[in-house]
Amino acid sequence: MDEISLIRPDDWHLHLRDSPFLEAVVGDSARQFARAIVMPNLVPPVRSCADALAYRERILAALPPASRFEPLMTLYLTDNTRVDEIRAASESAHVYGAKLYPAGATTNSDAGVTDLERLDAVFDAMQKHGLVLQVHGEATEPGIDVFDREKVFIERSLERIRNDFPALRIVFEHVTTRDAVDYVLAADANLAATITPHHLLINRNAMFAGGLRPHHFCLPVAKREEHRQALVAAATGGDPRFFAGTDSAPHSRAAKESACGCAGIYSAHSAIELYAEAFELAGDFEQFEAFMSRHGADYYGLPHNRERIRISRRDWQLPDSLPCPDGELVPFRAGDRLRWKLDADG
Ligand code: DOR
Ligand code: ZN
Repeated sequence: MDEISLIRPDDWHLHLRDSPFLEAVVGDSARQFARAIVMPNLVPPVRSCADALAYRERILAALPPASRFEPLMTLYLTDNTRVDEIRAASESAHVYGAKLYPAGATTNSDAGVTDLERLDAVFDAMQKHGLVLQVHGEATEPGIDVFDREKVFIERSLERIRNDFPALRIVFEHVTTRDAVDYVLAADANLAATITPHHLLINRNAMFAGGLRPHHFCLPVAKREEHRQALVAAATGGDPRFFAGTDSAPHSRAAKESACGCAGIYSAHSAIELYAEAFELAGDFEQFEAFMSRHGADYYGLPHNRERIRISRRDWQLPDSLPCPDGELVPFRAGDRLRWKLDADG
């Protein structure tokens, strides 16, 4: 098999940033994907429907000419998010969810939620109005080992939210552990998960291979090999609750290669090819289109894209860097060779 044709995929978890970074990266996603759930962790965050609609306009204005890429907007939940904002979001044609960042969990999460119980009225409104909750699932208490944060979040927070709000539709974002995969599989309803290409391709050793590797640092941090294998099994296994979400998160080289480097891996430049690489290594493309192009749309209640794309088996080399406003951006697997290439003409 040297060519695969599939419905054009969507990215169910993406960071596009704001101008002028936005202009440097949005073309990469638009070349690959039809739609993307756009994360709201700007500075200041996208807290209201009005913020989300204004941000959407800035994204549309930054797209390459003739692009039909569709940004699907989200709100950033804070301790002060109001129920009427949730209602407004659910009535908007352009807002598809609200994102829960536990305060301090990751990049630009300082304005996130400090006490989940304060959000109960918001969760209740979300389940009533059918707005999806996107969750950064990591516990943030300082005593918790960084590699255990996802598991502890499931036990201390996610289970409680799901019990108290059984009709709330949740996406457990960028899962990194066997614990998370098993938790999703055991759920009776209203729980799905995105999986990134980097968590399918690297384990935690990649952060320390021959020295400290800042371009392999993201949050949640990559875990040990047995967890990576559980993610690969989930992605390739055909269960409709798992789908592609790149968590592509651009930071300049200077921001990454620093005494306190930012978390985030930039994969939008070659995301489909990276997912193809992971499926190829697993030796099984059977569920590739379902994972890339159908499961996410089904969970969000959106139609499948009509356009198709083609990827071909072709050895090619990723660039060492890409231009960006603060210098350059180092993409995931910079300088490495990949085996699959997205065909320009679809
Ligand atoms: O590694 C990450 N980077 N994880 C996140 O959750 C946020 C993201 C970012 O915005 O840079
Ligand atoms: Zn993210």
